[in-house]
Amino acid sequence: MTQRVVTLAHYYTQPEIQQMADKVGDSLELSLFAREAEADIIVFAGVRFMAETAKILNPNATVILPDAGSTCSLVTQTDVGALKAWRESYPDHVHVSYINSSAEHKALSDWIVTSRNVDDIIGHLYEQGQKVIFSPDRNMGAYLNYQYGYDMPLWSAVCEVHDKFNEAALNEALGAVNGEAYLIAHPESPLPVLKRADYVGSTSGMLNWVKQFSGNPEAVIFVATEDGILYNMGLARPDLDLRQAPIYAGCQCNSCPYMKMNTIEAVKRAQQGIGLEIDYLTPAQMDAARVPIERMLDFSQRYYA
Ligand code: 13P
Ligand code: SF4
Repeated sequence: MTQRVVTLAHYYTQPEIQQMADKVGDSLELSLFAREAEADIIVFAGVRFMAETAKILNPNATVILPDAGSTCSLVTQTDVGALKAWRESYPDHVHVSYINSSAEHKALSDWIVTSRNVDDIIGHLYEQGQKVIFSPDRNMGAYLNYQYGYDMPLWSAVCEVHDKFNEAALNEALGAVNGEAYLIAHPESPLPVLKRADYVGSTSGMLNWVKQFSGNPEAVIFVATEDGILYNMGLARPDLDLRQAPIYAGCQCNSCPYMKMNTIEAVKRAQQGIGLEIDYLTPAQMDAARVPIERMLDFSQRYYA
C-alpha cells in the first residue's frame, strides 16, 4: 500500500522548500496541522523541536526531520538538569515554556506557548492571579515583563539569529530613509529593538501586518526576523518596499543556519523515508510533554476559533 506522505515547511525555509510542502506556516499552525494530519510519514522541514512536537501530537505517524543537525540555539543553550533545579526553586509558580524547547523541557512545563499566543496565555494566567516563570527565551520574557509590567523570573537562552539585531544599526538604517519608515520585529529580538518597533509579533503576525498595511505605499518597512519570511511577504505585497532589518552596518546575515539545512535534496530524501526519524522519545516522555502542548492548543482553538 502506498504511504501517505505529508510535508510541512516553516516560513523560514527557502522558497523552493515551501513550494514542495503541503502546508507552510508558523510553529502554531504547523503543530495544529500535524496533530490532524492523516499521514503515514510527516516530513518536517523545520527544526528538531518542531518535528518532536509533531511526533508527540501524532504518535502513530513516522516523523522525519530532513537533516539531523537542524537544532535551535534556544534548545542547545538550555541544560535540562539546571532547568529542573530552577523550576523547583519556584514551587508556587506556573512554568510557561516557549515551544522552542526539547521534549524533556516541555515535560517540565505547565504550559507551552508560541510567539503567537504567548501574550494571551500569560495574560490569562495573570488574570487568574497566578505567578509565572518563563523559559527559555530571555528576550521574549524581558519584552513581556516590560510590555505588561510583569515580574516573571526568566531563564536565559536566546535565539542566535534574532539576538543579533541591534538598536544602533536599526537607528542608522531608519535614519537613512528619506521619508516614512516602519520597523516590525519578532519578540525573540533584544528589548531595545522591540521598544523601537512599530509592531511586535510572531512570524504570522508580522505577515498579517504586512498584508493589511494601508499606510503610505512609498514607506520603507524593515523586518526584524529570519530572512525566509521576506519571500512570503513579497508574494503577498509586491507593491511594498520591504527590507531585511540590518544586524550591523553592511551585514544582512540573519538567516537561521538550522532552518537552511532543509535543502531540496534533504527534503526529497526525507520524503523517501531517509533522515532523522523521531523515534527516540519514550511513550512516557511523549505523554508528559503532550499535556502542556494540548493545554496551549485547546486555549488557542477556544480563543482564536
Ligand atoms: P514562530 O513561532 O513565529 O513560527 O517562530 C518560530 C521560530 O523559531 C522563530 O525563530
Ligand atoms: Fe531557533 Fe532562532 Fe532558528 Fe528560530 S530562528 S529555529 S529560534 S535558532
